[in-house]
Amino acid sequence: MSDLTTLDIHGSVAVIRTDSPPVNALAAPVRAGLLRALQRAEADPAVQAIVLTCAGRTFHAGADIHELASGPVSPTLQDVLLSLEGTRKIVVAALHGTTLGGGLELALTADYRIAADASTVGLPEVLLGLIPGAGGTQRLPRAAGVAVAVDLITSGRQMSALDAQQAGIIDRVVPSDQLTAAAIDWAQALVAHGAPRRRLSDDSVPGSMTDNLATLDAVARQQVKPWSRLDAPQAACRALHAAITQPFAEGVATERAEFLGLLKGSQSRALRHLFFAERAVAKSRWISASAVGREWRTLGIVGAGTMGSGIALSCLNAGLSVHLVENHAQALERGLSTIRGHYESRVATGKLSAEAAAARLTCLTTTTDLASLADCDLVIEAIYENMEAKLELFRQLDALCKPDAILASNTSYLNIDAMAAVTTRPSQVLGLHFFSPAHVNRLLEIIRTEHVSESTLASAMAWSKRIKKLGVVVGNAHGFVGNRMLAPRQREADKLILEGALPWEVDRVLEAFGLPMGPFRMRDLAGMDIGWNPATTASATVRERLCEIGRLGQKTKAGYYDYDDQRRATPSNVAQEVVLRFSAEHGYVRRAVSETEILERCLYPMINEGARLLAEGIAERASDIDMVWTTGYGWPTWTGGPMHWAETVGWATIVERLEVYAALYGAEFTPCDALRQWAAPASQPGV
Ligand code: 3HC
Repeated sequence: MSDLTTLDIHGSVAVIRTDSPPVNALAAPVRAGLLRALQRAEADPAVQAIVLTCAGRTFHAGADIHELASGPVSPTLQDVLLSLEGTRKIVVAALHGTTLGGGLELALTADYRIAADASTVGLPEVLLGLIPGAGGTQRLPRAAGVAVAVDLITSGRQMSALDAQQAGIIDRVVPSDQLTAAAIDWAQALVAHGAPRRRLSDDSVPGSMTDNLATLDAVARQQVKPWSRLDAPQAACRALHAAITQPFAEGVATERAEFLGLLKGSQSRALRHLFFAERAVAKSRWISASAVGREWRTLGIVGAGTMGSGIALSCLNAGLSVHLVENHAQALERGLSTIRGHYESRVATGKLSAEAAAARLTCLTTTTDLASLADCDLVIEAIYENMEAKLELFRQLDALCKPDAILASNTSYLNIDAMAAVTTRPSQVLGLHFFSPAHVNRLLEIIRTEHVSESTLASAMAWSKRIKKLGVVVGNAHGFVGNRMLAPRQREADKLILEGALPWEVDRVLEAFGLPMGPFRMRDLAGMDIGWNPATTASATVRERLCEIGRLGQKTKAGYYDYDDQRRATPSNVAQEVVLRFSAEHGYVRRAVSETEILERCLYPMINEGARLLAEGIAERASDIDMVWTTGYGWPTWTGGPMHWAETVGWATIVERLEVYAALYGAEFTPCDALRQWAAPASQPGV
């Protein structure tokens, strides 16, 4: 046997056990080991049944995603499954942990399946831009029917063992600590009772073809249409269609062709890149493996506005105690009613039980007394963006909070080192930058201040997981990573509408690229008056002029767009007039601006800024930037994030275009040195 796969004989049962940490992925050595073990069991006349099992945290969690980049390597998973189908012995798969992708496809090829009660199963290939490629789209509908199969395969979601048992995917569920023994006993009993082989490939999909096609169509319309930019869910539907309409072998061939097509495509490459990018952010070079963090249990939040309430909700949802503080009772009441309103609507829509909502609210205390934060492990300031006010607050917090408390700022732009400098505990000060809506958006920029300790960063990383955020450690720079890259895009969008494009034309190009909202629609949503002061307004920008006439965005049903009661946007004639007049007053001779120019001028300067952030060490890896933008700003995942996308466009192309724009429109387009270096063939940033 290979080191990874062992075979032990228990009476008439051969137990094949794979031990390939961390997740028993079905890499080539594992497949080779499985194949050899199956052949040995087949050849042994004393063996009448086979139990497939895994050591460690999980049964096989799928194909080895690293290996997918290189294409099929022999022996393939199909070879293993053919051997499994061909054996004359009864096969029982014993599942624990997360049986996913190829792991579930292997289990579905066995005759019987038994699972640990705490385990889950799923076919998450779609999340990697793929479909199951080893019979999953053909066997799952045969085991569980079309409705369950299309749901699991097109969503990629995991299902609990108990639900999977109900759906017909798993035959038996047992307590985790009894799994292997129960599987062996069951295999022996099956042999003793002369139980038949049970191959899903011999069955057809249950139900009539007409009903199954109607079900597929209905779920596809509901679940797949909204994802119409992604190729994989549509390919999954075609493979499921084949499962319903074609014999098994033909269906498998259809599935295989779809799988291989997707594997070669850019979407799967991008989504696989993001899979590893997400795991990489957990390993910051600023936090050594030996760094020991502290658990933050009690949390103080200063500021009960939109951000403060959203942060409070994130923490309450994770079962943490929250003290919410505001200067004035009225502002506090507003924050509290936002939080209550959120839970009321969750209860009303059946997403949360009334008991759970009440339990979460009991973990919240609200007060106007800053001193009540004295015993908190962590205090986050979420007050308005004013440095003086923040410095004063940090001085007060430093004086009143317990010595080991951590102080954090949720500022979007301001210098957190300056805040740390007014305290006596700079090693315990950092930025925790949430993104609106803070209880929904998964991104959390963890801002590394100059003197912050590794232990503080390690605690922040662990805490971000606890509150279900993706923590990305970034340096302290104006706008950090996300907002610093957003700035050049907004700058160009604002210039483009003066030169000749209209706001909705710019939005349309960026939305067609895949961003959920163009820059002007986004501004309308956020509120045009963020940072606008009616006392000092000087009609100096289109935005100021719109604010001056009361067009503050969606909240006033008027911004760049007009909004109806359902918040549907239509381009506004008034806003267009403001744009045209401003443009004329400032001497612009309006011209036709092409879609290509809009796209390149909005996105290429972002890539330039990303390269600068890497060169300055503000972002650790190009893939961290991709995670920030796909998680926090809705950058289309199927492009892999801005830096991965830029690599597919070509660094040299981007440098060349930036130089053209620099010559036409100014130095802000000048490619930075890092970007120029990457454009040289030998030095790529390793996106
Ligand atoms: N291949 C290669 N490496 C994998 C892997 C896989 N299928 N699944 C996980 N890993 C690695 C991760 O990269 C990580 O490595 P690292 O420690 O070096 O960063 C390590 O295993 C642990 O993973 P997580 O940090 O994600 O651990 P969690 O406990 O949080 O999650 C998991 C475990 C639920 C298994 C999660 O890793 C996961 O969802 N994995 C992907 C599963 C998947 O997509 N399977 C389908 C693959 S495609 C396929 O099977 C095609 C087939 O149809 C032919």
